[in-house]
Amino acid sequence: MKALVLAGGAGTRLRPITHTSAKQLVPIANKPVLFYGLEAIADAGIKEVGIIVGETAAEIEQAVGDGADFGLDVTYLPQPQPLGLAHAVLIARDFLGDDDFLMYLGDNFILGGISALLDEFRTHRPDVQLMLTRVSDPSSYGVASLSEEGRVTGLEEKPARPRSDLAVVGVYLFSPVVHEAVRAIAPSDRGELEITDALQWLLDQGRDIRPTVITGYWKDTGNVADMLEANRCVLEVLEPGIEGFVSADSELVGRVRVCEGAEVHGSRIVGPALIGAGSAIVDSYVGPSTAIAENCRIEDSEIEFSIVLNDSAITGIRRIGASLIGCHVVVAPAPRVPAAHRFVLGDHSKVQISS
Ligand code: G1P
Repeated sequence: MKALVLAGGAGTRLRPITHTSAKQLVPIANKPVLFYGLEAIADAGIKEVGIIVGETAAEIEQAVGDGADFGLDVTYLPQPQPLGLAHAVLIARDFLGDDDFLMYLGDNFILGGISALLDEFRTHRPDVQLMLTRVSDPSSYGVASLSEEGRVTGLEEKPARPRSDLAVVGVYLFSPVVHEAVRAIAPSDRGELEITDALQWLLDQGRDIRPTVITGYWKDTGNVADMLEANRCVLEVLEPGIEGFVSADSELVGRVRVCEGAEVHGSRIVGPALIGAGSAIVDSYVGPSTAIAENCRIEDSEIEFSIVLNDSAITGIRRIGASLIGCHVVVAPAPRVPAAHRFVLGDHSKVQISS
């Protein structure tokens, strides 16, 4: 069994962060979302992994390397244009050969791993094993209909009127019959070869698609709200500990991890919260569900339910909430005169001011 990991795509809904970073490398609890997927693949005992890369190929390759750190053997497969998930399977044909394979979308975040899916596939040997989960907004996803016996009877991509609340999670197990399907379908209205259409084609051919309905946590981390939510979820199970320095006049409440070289002075941190290596929290409040990456400085400020990426500085701001702040960002008060907001914002930035 091989794995095909999709790490192309533009990540438009995470701009401006994705102007400078691949969406799969935006961190959840200070670790790129892609790494959680690679770890799950390694845990499931798969070694040979093809990673589909697009415009951000250099960054992904730099972060993942040859895969040895994960116990994987990684091959990079360039996709010149983001022409869809089924197109990715098409260009991976030589790499995949005639093996069964796991396809994993690099921006999907799943708690609980993928072993249950693999076990079901190995036990029943269907043509495809699909991971499904119930969602409140199925029209944003691929949606599956099931028969009373629990067989997949139909699939639609982002339907305006979904026939069920079962979304297709971005983890699929395929037997080699899928190669015929991805060659048979035509591009969708959005100009992409949809994997959902390939699956429907297989159903039309009488192929056996089995569902695994998961109840554990899943997020497609395509937008800021979902990133913050996934971050909150991982921090809930954070291993607390102090490897850095916490001054006597500071207070840590609940699950808080202060990484090596980080310093906390005169501050209150209410977990779950993660303070990355080399960061300083000074005279500040850091609230629940917050991950501060490496080498940041939070001074005389309050922040909660947020993600701050490395080398950023926040001074004299209260209070920041539900925010995703990029690398090397400076947030500070404006001078008193003139009393004006001052901005230097990158393209597609979004600022909401509470005054
Ligand atoms: C893709 C698939 C969709 C699936 C989703 C899971 O959507 O096309 O069927 O439900 O991933 O994350 P996209 O992220 O391309 O909008």
